[in-house]
Amino acid sequence: MSLIFSLPAILEESRREYKKIKENEEQGKDFYPVEQLCHNEPEHGAAAESILAKGDNLEFIQYLMREKDIEGRIQLIYMDPPFYSKASYDAVIKLKSPLVPQAPAIKPAAYEDVWKTGIEDYLRMLCVRFFLVKDLLSEEGCFWVHLDWHVVHYVKILLDEIFGEKNFINEVVWNYKSGGTGKRNFSRKHDTLLFYSKTKNYYFQPLKEKSYNRGYKPYRFKGVNEYKDEMGWYTMVNMKDVWQIDMVGRTSSERTGYATQKPEQLLSRIIESCSRKGELCADFFGGSGTLAAAAEQLGRRWISCDIGDLATASCLKRMSVKKSSFTLMGDRFDREGEALLLDVEVEPIEFTAKKLVTVTLQGYEPDEKSIPVKGEEREVIKAFCRADSLQLLEYWSVDFHYDGNMHSPEFSFPKEKDSIEKTCSQIGQSISRISIRAVDVFGNSMLKVLELDQPGMASDC
Ligand SMILES: C[S@@+](CC[C@H](N)C(=O)[O-])C[C@H]1O[C@@H](n2cnc3c(N)ncnc32)[C@H](O)[C@@H]1O
Repeated sequence: MSLIFSLPAILEESRREYKKIKENEEQGKDFYPVEQLCHNEPEHGAAAESILAKGDNLEFIQYLMREKDIEGRIQLIYMDPPFYSKASYDAVIKLKSPLVPQAPAIKPAAYEDVWKTGIEDYLRMLCVRFFLVKDLLSEEGCFWVHLDWHVVHYVKILLDEIFGEKNFINEVVWNYKSGGTGKRNFSRKHDTLLFYSKTKNYYFQPLKEKSYNRGYKPYRFKGVNEYKDEMGWYTMVNMKDVWQIDMVGRTSSERTGYATQKPEQLLSRIIESCSRKGELCADFFGGSGTLAAAAEQLGRRWISCDIGDLATASCLKRMSVKKSSFTLMGDRFDREGEALLLDVEVEPIEFTAKKLVTVTLQGYEPDEKSIPVKGEEREVIKAFCRADSLQLLEYWSVDFHYDGNMHSPEFSFPKEKDSIEKTCSQIGQSISRISIRAVDVFGNSMLKVLELDQPGMASDC
C-alpha cells in the first residue's frame, strides 16, 4: 500500500503515544550526572546549564520534562536524525604512534540507519519526538529538522499537521560538492532542512550574505553600499535559502571522524538566526556534537543527546577541547577502571600541611570484550596495546576531591594532535580521595577511585 494512505494512521498513533507519555509524566528512566566539567565561566554567562546526555532521546526528553521543568524553555531545537538511508555508519579513528609504524585507520561502528520494520515505524519514531519537542520550545522558539530526499517530503506533511502549516517558515537547501555521482540520476548534492516556528511570534534575525554584481563590476547606485574582494564587486543582501557550505573535509580542524558530522558553519547560521546569546539550544540526535560546538562558540547554552558511546565520547572530547562547562548525564554507564594503569605519588611540602599529589597514566589494558572491531583492525589494536597503549585513550580527567558521588574534575585532558597529556598534579591539604575518569577511542568510559591512605601511598578504593 502506498505510504500516502498510512500517513494519517502514523500521525494518530504517534499522537496517542505522545498523550500517553504526557499522562504518565511521573514515570520513566532516570538520568544521573556522570561528570561535571567546569572551566572558567565563559563569556556571556553561558555554560552552567549545558548538558551532554547519553541515552535514548525519548527517555531523555521525558526525564527533562519530569525533573528539569524544561517545557517552554528551549529557544531552538535542531534535529539531525538518521535519514532512513538503510546504511550503517562508521567512525574513522586514526591512531598514530612513533612506536607503531604505519598503522591503518580503524572503523568501529558508529550507528545504524537500518529499519527492518519499515518506513512507517521510522516515521512514527520521529513523529512522537516532534510532538514532544514542540512542548519544549519557548513561545518564540524555532524547530529545524535536517533530512534528505529519502523522507523529507513525508516528514513535511507530518510536521505541517504537528506545528501547523502557518508555522512553516523555510525549506533550506544545504548544497555541497562531496559525495558520489550517479549514472542513472543527477548527482545528489543537497540535504533539505525544514524550519518551523512554534507560534507566529517567533524570534528570527536575518543574516547577511554577499551578492556579486553582474560582471563583478561596480553598479554605483545612489545610497547602495558596494564592496570589493578578490572576485570583484558585491553588495550585502539578506541571506537566501540555498546554502553552499562544504562538508567537513578530511583535513579540517573541526573533523572528529564521526560519520555524518555536519559543518559548524551550517549550525552557526541556524543558531545565530534563531536564538540570542545566553539562550538554550538543543539537539536530540547530537552525534559528534556539532550543535553544541557551534552554540558554545556563539555563547548559547546547549543540550546534546545521543544514544551511542562513540558519539558521546566524540562530543565530550570536542567540548572539553573548547573548554566548555557542562554536565555529562546518563544511566551510570562507566565501567570500573581496572584497565587503567596509574601511578600516584604523594610528596609532603616542607613546612606546610599541604602535599603535592601527582597522577601519571602508565598504560591502558582494555579487555577483549570492549574492543568492538574484528580481523585486521583487532590486530592493530593489539599492537597498540603492546607498544603504546595510551594512544587508545581519547580523554581523561582527574578530580582530586572526589566526594564519592559526582566526578567533578579540576583537570581534563582530551587527546589533541595525536597526543595525550600523561601527568597531572595538584597541591592541597585535604586530598584523600581521587577519581580518574577516562574514555577510550571506542567510547568505553571508566572510573577509577583511589584512596590515599598515607603519604607516598595510594590504593584502589
Ligand atoms: C545523522 S547523525 C547526527 C550527526 C550530528 N549532527 C553531527 O554533526 O555529528 C544521527 C545520530 O542520531 C543518533 N540516534 C539515533 N537514534 C537515537 C535515539 N533514539 N536517541 C538518541 N540518539 C539517537 C545516532 O547515534 C547518530 O549519532
